[in-house]
Amino acid sequence: MRDNEFEFIRGLVYERSRINLGQDKRELVSTRLGKRLRATNSPSLGDYCRLLQSPGAEEELGNLIDVISTNHTFFFREQAHFDFMRDTALPALTARLRNERWPRIQIWSAASSSGEEAYSIAITLATHLPQTPWHIEGTDISHRILAAAKRAVYNEDTARNLPDSVVRNHFQRGFGPQEGQIRVRPALRERVNFSHLNLLKGEPAFREPFQIIFCRNVMIYFDRPTQQELIARLTRRLVPGGYLFVGHSESLTSINHTLCSIRPAIYQRPLGS
Ligand SMILES: C[S@@+](CC[C@H](N)C(=O)[O-])C[C@H]1O[C@@H](n2cnc3c(N)ncnc32)[C@H](O)[C@@H]1O
Repeated sequence: MRDNEFEFIRGLVYERSRINLGQDKRELVSTRLGKRLRATNSPSLGDYCRLLQSPGAEEELGNLIDVISTNHTFFFREQAHFDFMRDTALPALTARLRNERWPRIQIWSAASSSGEEAYSIAITLATHLPQTPWHIEGTDISHRILAAAKRAVYNEDTARNLPDSVVRNHFQRGFGPQEGQIRVRPALRERVNFSHLNLLKGEPAFREPFQIIFCRNVMIYFDRPTQQELIARLTRRLVPGGYLFVGHSESLTSINHTLCSIRPAIYQRPLGS
């Protein structure tokens, strides 16, 4: 990959998603772009870069972000967050529900990838808050991955670490041509909504604030000013006393913010702020 091609792709990806591709990502970019060269019948990377500059390249720009962004995720990733939610956050928040006149507990999975995070939250709420109204929003920049999240069909292997009772209660097993696949049951699916959102562009159309936001394993791809902007945006969407969960490798120590750090990778908007 030539320097000018890498710089062009790097600039476009930053402008579109704010994902910051360092020089160490050159090899990765080159491998991932191979797929797009084949899909668009571009004989060389130079041709592909020209295609991206042509009028009507909008759809291909989306495909570019899709192949560059890393969608790796799994059910109950970073279990400590789900334990904290069950033992501390949900009891504190449900106790406030009536006084605050919140219509329901609202949780946002703000870089949801293929939905495992949002459905893990849903399973936790269905299990521990059977009588409380709740709703989950999942958003991501990738249209392709959002389609998978809405379908909610997963390989059985992805659930191998889940207790049998969770699989039985919350998933349907496929048979015939769907053998080896599981699908989240409709009762959960209908309480989780997925929509497209670039976290750094425009304002999300949510009307209600959130009691909990999961924004995990996406900030690592952003530079420091972008991380700071993102945390300010998320903070505005939290109720006072609401919680923000970030990935365990994503500390907020080097950026300015107004949140209280209460556990590793768990932050709280101060009450009264
Ligand atoms: C590694 S996955 C994290 C999934 C899940 N939160 C977890 O921790 O398992 C990162 C996700 O962030 C999404 N993403 C990257 N840049 C984004 C942006 N600017 N706005 C919204 N989503 C973005 C990617 O498409 C990808 O699905």
